[in-house]
Amino acid sequence: MDLDDAEEQATALLGRGTPWGPFQIACGTGLVLYLAWAGSLALGLRKMSPVQVPFVPSSAVQVRNMMSLLEGRFGKLVDLGSGDGRVVLEAYKQGFRPAIGYELNPWLLQLSNCRAWWAGCYGKVSYLREDLLKADLSNCNNVTVFLAPSMVPLLEKKLLSELPDEACVVAARFPFLGWTPTRVAGDNLERVWAYNIRDVRRAGQSTSGKNPVKEGVTSSAF
Ligand SMILES: C[S@@+](CC[C@H](N)C(=O)[O-])C[C@H]1O[C@@H](n2cnc3c(N)ncnc32)[C@H](O)[C@@H]1O
Repeated sequence: MDLDDAEEQATALLGRGTPWGPFQIACGTGLVLYLAWAGSLALGLRKMSPVQVPFVPSSAVQVRNMMSLLEGRFGKLVDLGSGDGRVVLEAYKQGFRPAIGYELNPWLLQLSNCRAWWAGCYGKVSYLREDLLKADLSNCNNVTVFLAPSMVPLLEKKLLSELPDEACVVAARFPFLGWTPTRVAGDNLERVWAYNIRDVRRAGQSTSGKNPVKEGVTSSAF
């Protein structure tokens, strides 16, 4: 056996003995950690929420659309079901004070605080572990929601009974079917609707019904 053959055999043997290089180990570990994280997000929520709403983050365009409908407004803003905290963070940057998110999932709350820290806003925005259906909204004049259609009827009642007249509610992707929006922005999945609570009360639109915005609204799941 010459030297070249011996080298080839040694390489082949080593290759067979250690199939996992550092790259594969890193990828494998990353995948396992991701699956554990995603699983715990789902479990965390399943244990606590009576209505199942998955975590689907707003896209950058959707957040921009929401903020565009709130332009010129100020004061307190609450994001109901704040996910990883991105809407609250953007609202704070746009000048809303205080900017608060309600979220049940503890992992998402951790993530929100990390994002706030990364953005230099840690301690300036608040993420509260509380059921959004139990949050006190009586002194809140700006509300954002991106939730599932199954949550909308429950929310309509709560918002109408608690919010002050001057409040504005911005709903993303799933409109409040019984309410007439004052403004609409964006298209398709990134469409958002703004509702003036005084107008909704005046019109007596307290329950879900016919959709007043005719174009392109689907209330199917995410
Ligand atoms: C579609 S995500 C929207 C996240 C974020 N608002 C955004 O726009 O990126 C809905 C969020 O609502 C949360 N959620 C569902 N039910 C809730 C409840 N009863 N109280 C608080 N948060 C809830 C979910 O955990 C999820 O993170």
